[in-house]
Amino acid sequence: MKFLITGGAGFIGSNFIGYILKNYTDDSVVCLDKLTYAGNYDNIAGFCGNKNFTFIQEDICNREAVFKLLKKYPIDCIVNFAAESHVDRSLETPDIFLKTNIIGTGVLLDAANEFGIKRFHQISTDEVYGDLPLDKPELQFDEAWKLNPSSPYSVSKAAADMLVMSYYRTFATPVTISRCSNNYGPYQFPEKLIPLMICRARDGLPLPVYGDGMNVRDWIHVNDHCRAVDRIIRRGRAGEIYNVGGGNEVSNLELVKLLLKLMGKDKSLITFVPDRKGHDRRYAVCSDKIKRELGWQPKIDFKQGIADTVSWYQKNTGWIDRIQSGEYRKMKELKL
Ligand SMILES: NC(=O)c1ccc[n+]([C@@H]2O[C@H](COP(=O)([O-])OP(=O)(O)OC[C@H]3O[C@@H](n4cnc5c(N)ncnc54)[C@H](O)[C@@H]3O)[C@@H](O)[C@H]2O)c1
Repeated sequence: MKFLITGGAGFIGSNFIGYILKNYTDDSVVCLDKLTYAGNYDNIAGFCGNKNFTFIQEDICNREAVFKLLKKYPIDCIVNFAAESHVDRSLETPDIFLKTNIIGTGVLLDAANEFGIKRFHQISTDEVYGDLPLDKPELQFDEAWKLNPSSPYSVSKAAADMLVMSYYRTFATPVTISRCSNNYGPYQFPEKLIPLMICRARDGLPLPVYGDGMNVRDWIHVNDHCRAVDRIIRRGRAGEIYNVGGGNEVSNLELVKLLLKLMGKDKSLITFVPDRKGHDRRYAVCSDKIKRELGWQPKIDFKQGIADTVSWYQKNTGWIDRIQSGEYRKMKELKL
């Protein structure tokens, strides 16, 4: 299969490229990434000697460039990971979230139609469903759950999902969507909870925990997410949405305590800070559909996956240092 992977220099996209290149030696990947602050060339530098890999620095909102790229490279499948992805930033600058996450998705869908792409896969999130109360643990989002997003980020992702489904209905574009829970693993930008806490604990800095720390997330290892996306692309039915959850519901406070324990650091580093505005209380994803239809299930044990993740960040201090110093942004431009 010939892939166009957008946002491939980010956390999940770079893990997905690694997964494809490792497991399918006949497949090829063109990675298109704008390299925003969250895009890191270091994440994909290791693939650059591979004859099946090409990197293009570009914005998915640039219609002319996207069309030019698809004219130049024969592509079977577009996987759209490109997004502004940090909820806190969406409270400050919602406009760039709306632009990249909605307009950019629209550009890619038009390009998919123009070039007869065989599969357009949209990487979405469980956050499009809004949140669940803490006192009803039996509730879980299934694919039919009402969309009820609560932040500009999740609104932009929900709007993109609706746009994707409208292309299926209107143009019969062969689309699929995956809505995944919170990912953890290597190469996650250290503004997100797990790498942020690991980096701060490493430096002996206070660990800021929002509100009472009781907000619950359903964690999944990024490799399990990559396996799910791969399965959906190759075996999933066009026009379908698949939820992908790890089945590991943990409160933020519990998670931070676990990280401190694994790092041999003291709990006194935990500092409670004023809650995020509109902070979603609990996410819980029902993955029965992908399990039943596609035979997928998460493989990585949560405690082992977290321990491995902590040791990855502890070993790859150079990767973190280059982000903290800003060095990671100094690379030459690679345009079409
Ligand atoms: N991280 C999670 O826990 C999680 C969970 C569920 C879904 N998702 C979704 O998965 C996708 C990837 O998330 P992530 O955590 O890897 O994000 P990330 O922020 O690490 O990576 C996003 C990538 O997109 C690129 N990008 C941003 N704007 C762009 C543009 N206009 N044109 C081209 N490239 C652009 C960035 O440079 C970066 O490389 C997102 O769509 C996100 O909504 C993430």
